[in-house]
Amino acid sequence: SINEKVDSLIKIMTLKEKIGQMNQYNGFWDVTGPVPNGGDAEKKYEHLKNGLVGSMLSVRGTKAVRAVQKIAVEESRLGIPLIIGFDVIHGYKTLSPIPLAEAASWDLEAIEKSAQVAAAEASAAGINWTFAPMVDISRDARWGRVMEGAGEDPFLGSKIAVARVKGFQGDDLSAVNTIAACAKHFAAYGFSEAGKEYNTVDIGNSTLHNVVLPPFKAAVEADVKTLMNAFNEYDGVPATGNKHLLRDILKDKWDFKGFVISDWASIKELVVWGYAKDNRSAAEMAALAGSDMDMESHIYVNELEQLVKDGVIEEEVINDAVSRILTVKFELGLFDDPYRYCDETREKEVVNSPKHLSDVLDMAKKSIVLLKNENQLLPLKKEGQNIVLIGALANEKNSPLGSWRIASKDSTAVSVLEGMQNYKGNNLVYKKGADVTVGGTQFVNEIKINTTDKSEFTDAVNAAKNADVVVMVLGEHGFQSGEARSRTDINLPGVQQELLETVYKANKNIVLVLNNGRPLSINWADKHIPAILETWQLGTQAGHAVAQVLYGDYNPSGKLPMTFPRNVGQIPIYYNHKNTGRPAKDKDNPNLVFWSHYSDVENTPLYPFGYGLSYTTFEYGNLALNKKVFNLDEDIHVSINITNTGKVVGKEVVQLYIRDLVASTTRPVKELKGFELIELQPDETKIVNFTLNKASLGFYNNQGDFIIEPGDFEIFVGGSSNKTLNTHFELK
Ligand code: IFM
Repeated sequence: SINEKVDSLIKIMTLKEKIGQMNQYNGFWDVTGPVPNGGDAEKKYEHLKNGLVGSMLSVRGTKAVRAVQKIAVEESRLGIPLIIGFDVIHGYKTLSPIPLAEAASWDLEAIEKSAQVAAAEASAAGINWTFAPMVDISRDARWGRVMEGAGEDPFLGSKIAVARVKGFQGDDLSAVNTIAACAKHFAAYGFSEAGKEYNTVDIGNSTLHNVVLPPFKAAVEADVKTLMNAFNEYDGVPATGNKHLLRDILKDKWDFKGFVISDWASIKELVVWGYAKDNRSAAEMAALAGSDMDMESHIYVNELEQLVKDGVIEEEVINDAVSRILTVKFELGLFDDPYRYCDETREKEVVNSPKHLSDVLDMAKKSIVLLKNENQLLPLKKEGQNIVLIGALANEKNSPLGSWRIASKDSTAVSVLEGMQNYKGNNLVYKKGADVTVGGTQFVNEIKINTTDKSEFTDAVNAAKNADVVVMVLGEHGFQSGEARSRTDINLPGVQQELLETVYKANKNIVLVLNNGRPLSINWADKHIPAILETWQLGTQAGHAVAQVLYGDYNPSGKLPMTFPRNVGQIPIYYNHKNTGRPAKDKDNPNLVFWSHYSDVENTPLYPFGYGLSYTTFEYGNLALNKKVFNLDEDIHVSINITNTGKVVGKEVVQLYIRDLVASTTRPVKELKGFELIELQPDETKIVNFTLNKASLGFYNNQGDFIIEPGDFEIFVGGSSNKTLNTHFELK
């Protein structure tokens, strides 16, 4: 068995070699160049030859991976193969929509397939481990990394986490087209204070157990092979050195058998946080806490041996970490054939294959959310219309690729302009209007948003004057969200808002197509612009997906996975908030101010979680329960009728929420506990059934124990978190 193989290998390893397995370096190998000389690269090369490296990240392509693997396998004493990690976040070269966009599909099958496509391409390029999925729940649109997650809800987030893990890992990890997944960032990174990157997290136990941890637990139960810890601290203890999170919860309580990798240099950062006094102490804390592999801190490889020799760390701790790492390598089949992911023929066939292009197009269409459609301005007519397309993002071939697209080539996205040019029945004119960005890469902060130059406004306005419809593609550039791209202002960047208002004065028939990696505050647009389509950053096939939805060849069915605030001051704003002791105005004294609200903006968001329209309409009716009083062990059966009351076929995400009215810790006013994506022909009615059980009705107390309490519950079913039918039942 793999366990026996791991045990016998560990027996012949020196302490140094074991620690080597716990060391991961960023790639340095240039296949076309000579053996690296000088500095860091030379040191890494020496370490690799001496069996002091267990993994490399960001080496990609079969040639490069083969080259580094060859050194590990042929030159080190034991020839233990490397595991090759890479940030395959939403595809490798062929890009699917950013993860937040995919979450808007609520289509678990499609999301799983998208991860499969990513795994197929990445594995064909030598990679066998992705640092995905990011399962951090976040309620803060200021945080740039919300683009990388599944939004604000732990139930939806858990389902998507499982779909992504399954998609990457498949049923057989040793198959050449599957890769190990990594649920990250453990834990609570999405709650960084004020949405500022790498910041302190200060949440209570109730939020930790009920909101933050469930998607990680779901990923562990789905057999995710690795977890990455986080840059933030939690309750005064940096996540990388957090024994409570890593040992007590993850490895003991949840019995996680895979391994934990640190985030980039996060072991070293224990010193910077002021938690460890030096590198030696950082190594001790991280290893004892349960961080098994060191990503680029260079600290385990330098410090752990002496710590063991001095008796500070027992060799058993090292053995445990190494056996976890080696187990995954065996499961990947790397010991049978270290070059199994290095087949150049397969690389040529699979990477950027036409099939993948059609797969990511399908996912892109499913990710689009229709936010507003007054007077059925959408879909556009296919002929006889004068359409003016405005906005720098309309002609962008980079921005739709979004952040985390390291392997994909620049300018490989289909732009909206290109997508619309495929529909030839109309007269289409393009005007830029205003810059959104010049330059910039994922890692270098060179993004310059044009905040003053309005020289192209007049041209855009003149064109818009005579148009039947104006399509304006506005929003954020692909690199304006992502890691280290927090913003304090989530309005349309630069002069785009002014452009929108100026064009509106000339022609009110505007379809606003939003490109963005996070919720934006678009209050003015919501009040004035008749049609708004949320298209996020949709990846390689973005423009085709947008055009097919604009022209009605695809009926949008996405629903928001994250609340859109009215303004940034409402953040954090989320649907599953608590009631407070003063949720509403005093009915008898409506002028009294002493209730939970702001005096300058209403409490509701602009667009709530779960919201999204269609080109058809749906009617909900006959919400029914099989009984009104249930014992704790009984299943609760809920049914509802949904009818397509419009003229075209459409898909709808039927959502079920509960509210536990009284509990030993306060419960949210609504909690998602079920959803189903259905398709209905015009006039067709379907009955959707949900079953709720103990797991749906319980919650975690502040000690992290799952409990179920009898009492009254409310049930809500509808097509959005704020538009539901409701009924109630009692649990005895
Ligand atoms: O996987 C990422 C992580 O999410 C952020 N820091 C760097 C890692 C490797 O690129």
